[in-house]
Amino acid sequence: MANQLCIVLDFGGQYNQLIARRVRECGVYCEILRYDTPLSEIAARKPAGIIFTGGPNSVYDESSPHIGKEIFSLGVPVLGICYGCQLVAYTLGGAVSACEKSEYGKIEITADAESVLFKDVPQQSTVWMSHTDFVSRLPEGFTVTAHSADCPCAAFENPAQKVYAVQFHPEVTHSVFGRQILHNFLYEVCGFTGDWVMDDFIETTVQRLRAEIGDKKVVLGLSGGVDSSVAAALLSRAVGRQLTCVFVDQGLMRKDEGDFVEQTFTKLFDMNFVRVNCGKQFLEKLRGVTDPEQKRRIIGTEFYNVFWDKIRETGAEGFFAQGTIYPDRIESGRGNEAGQGSTAVIKTHHNMVKMPEDIQFDGVIEPLCDLFKDEVRAVGEKLGIPSELVWRQPFPGPGLGVRILGEITEEKIRILQEADAVFRDEIEKSGIARELKQFFAVLPDVHTVGVMGDHRTYEHLIAIRAVTTDDFMTADWARIPYDVLARVSNRLCNEVAHVNRVVYDITSKPPGTVEWE
Ligand code: XMP
Repeated sequence: MANQLCIVLDFGGQYNQLIARRVRECGVYCEILRYDTPLSEIAARKPAGIIFTGGPNSVYDESSPHIGKEIFSLGVPVLGICYGCQLVAYTLGGAVSACEKSEYGKIEITADAESVLFKDVPQQSTVWMSHTDFVSRLPEGFTVTAHSADCPCAAFENPAQKVYAVQFHPEVTHSVFGRQILHNFLYEVCGFTGDWVMDDFIETTVQRLRAEIGDKKVVLGLSGGVDSSVAAALLSRAVGRQLTCVFVDQGLMRKDEGDFVEQTFTKLFDMNFVRVNCGKQFLEKLRGVTDPEQKRRIIGTEFYNVFWDKIRETGAEGFFAQGTIYPDRIESGRGNEAGQGSTAVIKTHHNMVKMPEDIQFDGVIEPLCDLFKDEVRAVGEKLGIPSELVWRQPFPGPGLGVRILGEITEEKIRILQEADAVFRDEIEKSGIARELKQFFAVLPDVHTVGVMGDHRTYEHLIAIRAVTTDDFMTADWARIPYDVLARVSNRLCNEVAHVNRVVYDITSKPPGTVEWE
């Protein structure tokens, strides 16, 4: 049975995926659609609630994303957030003006009237605001339900029409009761029952996969990353040995990672597991290459050559499976990326693979294509994948290849693997790992002079990188405590052969990127 659906209409704001994730955390299935999706299409999906997102524009800009007022005649409850709130007012005949004083950051609001949206929310609470326009005149039939010192209309509504609007961002954790407000909209206004539950997802997906695959075979490219690992575990639960996972180890993974992936999938899950060790072959191809883009190209091309050759050898029968997740579809434009006014799409990495023409499967299966990363992790945990894998940090496709600057050699790989393992171990031990989104070592291909005992040394410099971020579009360098940095530095110089100096990368993104190449 299909889940009840909430539609998030994307007007190009930066928190759009966050809104969708928060809705799902409330146990409600939702999808992000472009703001200009035809009304008939929206109606055909039979949503029980619609949320207008924020956006970077002003409703009076001609080029801003707008919407016809017919959407309010569907009889489906609407919640407008930030730009979406102003759009509700503008579309229904109210007025929006520039603020005398813009509001940005944590702001105190006061509830002015009884509202189901503010059920179980104190009369005064902190919310996250970010706006330079405000609703200066309400459409007919609406009343203000909250204000702040500088915004007379922080929330308004027309309960009879089931239209609600908030100037602040309930999806951001700084809005202390934001989750409650979204919950109230979904459950009290829209009447959702909370049928989006990960246990049910596993069961229904397994049933669906069994029905779709029948007695055919499935081949999955396993990278050792979270998404393909969870897809593998789910497919294994559905069809066991009809599944073959092909794992290409290009020799550029972290220390012992290839063996760990093999152990996990051969010992804990029922499937055919094929590991292709081709580190030497990759090193041959990379000999003498120092240009970052050329390295990426070679590693990428070689990876798929090896992968598809293995598929040809094992036989391209049945279905091809991939670990595509929901944000991959949004980012790549295959799904519902906002057009005008959309947030800049910077990330181009995704899980979608172009298949060579001579390889013909019966179809492609993407069992996780509706899930956000947090949901993929929840499914992975329920399926019994070890937490090292489920909570694995993002790791670039070209692996350590983009963390060894200059030419890649066997010795440099070994030094970096050791250094990276020591750094990660120390961060884990210090208990700050969960606060950091990514932390790793880089080998900048720089030698420096040092002293050890009575000897002069001339050895490698190691750089360490640790970032905090919400979405990797921007990132800040992590303020790791000095004593942790001191232990890391000591251990790197003492335990890793050929290292005599350590530096900490204190560059945010932008202007830097997370990776060095
Ligand atoms: P940058 O360096 O672009 O990294 O700031 C942002 C995030 O993306 C990861 N990254 C990659 N992921 N293939 C991937 O799957 C790649 O080629 C790649 N390059 C960077 C990076 O580790 C960070 O998490």
